[in-house]
Amino acid sequence: MAAQVDVLLGAQWGDEGKGKVVDVIAPDYQVIARFQGGPNAGHTLIFDGKKHVLHTIPSGVFRPGVWNLVGNGVVIDPVTFMREIAALEASGVDVRERLLISRRAHIILPTHRALDAASEAEKGQEKIGSTLKGIGPTYMDKTGRNGLRMGDLERPDLMDRYRTLVKKHERLLGLYDHHADRTADEAAWAEAVKAMRSFRLVDSEHWLDEQLRAGKRVLAEGAQGTLLDIDFGTYPFVTSSNTISAGACTGLGVPPGRIGKVIGIFKAYSTRVGSGPFPTELHDDLGERIRQAGNEFGSTTGRPRRCGWLDLPALRYAVMINGITELAMMKADVLSGLDHVQVCTAYRVDGTVTDRLPYDVTTGITPVYTELAGWGALDAGRELPAETEAYIAFIERAVGVPVRIVSVGPDRAHTLVRTAALAG
Ligand code: GDP
Ligand code: IMO
Ligand code: MG
Repeated sequence: MAAQVDVLLGAQWGDEGKGKVVDVIAPDYQVIARFQGGPNAGHTLIFDGKKHVLHTIPSGVFRPGVWNLVGNGVVIDPVTFMREIAALEASGVDVRERLLISRRAHIILPTHRALDAASEAEKGQEKIGSTLKGIGPTYMDKTGRNGLRMGDLERPDLMDRYRTLVKKHERLLGLYDHHADRTADEAAWAEAVKAMRSFRLVDSEHWLDEQLRAGKRVLAEGAQGTLLDIDFGTYPFVTSSNTISAGACTGLGVPPGRIGKVIGIFKAYSTRVGSGPFPTELHDDLGERIRQAGNEFGSTTGRPRRCGWLDLPALRYAVMINGITELAMMKADVLSGLDHVQVCTAYRVDGTVTDRLPYDVTTGITPVYTELAGWGALDAGRELPAETEAYIAFIERAVGVPVRIVSVGPDRAHTLVRTAALAG
């Protein structure tokens, strides 16, 4: 029997700590594969006193013997990609040998980034808060059937195709009245594309199928989070790809029946970076305290992240949409030292209490909270305090899925596997 593909994804608004958990569990797998998103992602890994932030490259790259695949659903910016490679090589990581890229992955052009910026500027107050990496315009060209793909790097007419697409972008930028000298960007792009030709391009759906038939274990690594999904997130304040487990099927070419475990990553509280609704957001000193304690500043843009309490209706929604089979709770240490913690169990919408995430999350939602006891310092070498266990048991009962991993610090070593997890 062929092996299965486990999926690991964000159950909130991104930055849950996906990179850390992928790195921790990667030794159980032979392949780690990114299936969507692009350099809007920033996945942080910390071990041996060193911090690494990955944007396009899968988080299995530091584990010897593990293959890393950038799947067809990912969008790649050659310039940021090569920068990432240079940083990895500078820290002595042999990345080239075990890195594969799908020929079907789409390429981000400098003009995609310009279009992202122009669109955001035009929206003004209503802006999405995009990372400005060109993600939206690149996926628009993919669905609009105009895009350039990694496989085009092997064609002699790549630069002609590039120029045709740029011409189209220039016309659009003209409509936005967005004019700039892009010569330098273009030169850097062409240079990076040339450098990318030395990487191994594969028909990744076939390659993955072979791996699975040979019994190799594959972990699909999500980017962003469920509430940023293009279909099921807080539209329009979302990203432009399917971040949910179904995205692993289309983003890698894996049939639904081959999906095994779905591991949902969530923080013990909530954060969001960029605009859009956030029912449990804290606008007070406590929000600031969480931001400082959790170092809640974007890994990609450095922007301060908005912070708030854990939102169980949203987490339950993520469990439902993704078919999450187990959870990892991150950053439990950040709440240490609080007398009490609040958990949102339902919303009051137009005077009615509901535990469902409504269609329109933007207006008139008041969270209904339950207060639980806080906890003191946490240590991966010791059992969790009774109060933390009670908090987790409360979450497990509310969402019906076991919390198997608890993270109590940013380092690889600050991780506990829970044996007391709700029978899953
Ligand atoms: P990702 O995008 O889901 O991979 O998450 P990010 O790397 O963008 O953001 C998570 C941040 O939290 C990073 O700075 C991590 O180093 C840090 N982090 C992860 N787990 C923990 C934890 O349990 N405790 C603390 N204090 N920090 C953590
Ligand atoms: P990781 O993988 C958190 C947010 C942006 C913005 C919206 C759209 O590190 O969890 P985009 O650049 O995709 O057009 O931005 O989505 N966003 C993220 N927020 N973590 C991410 O990735 C994100 N990637 C995009 O802030 O609100
Ligand atoms: Mg991140």
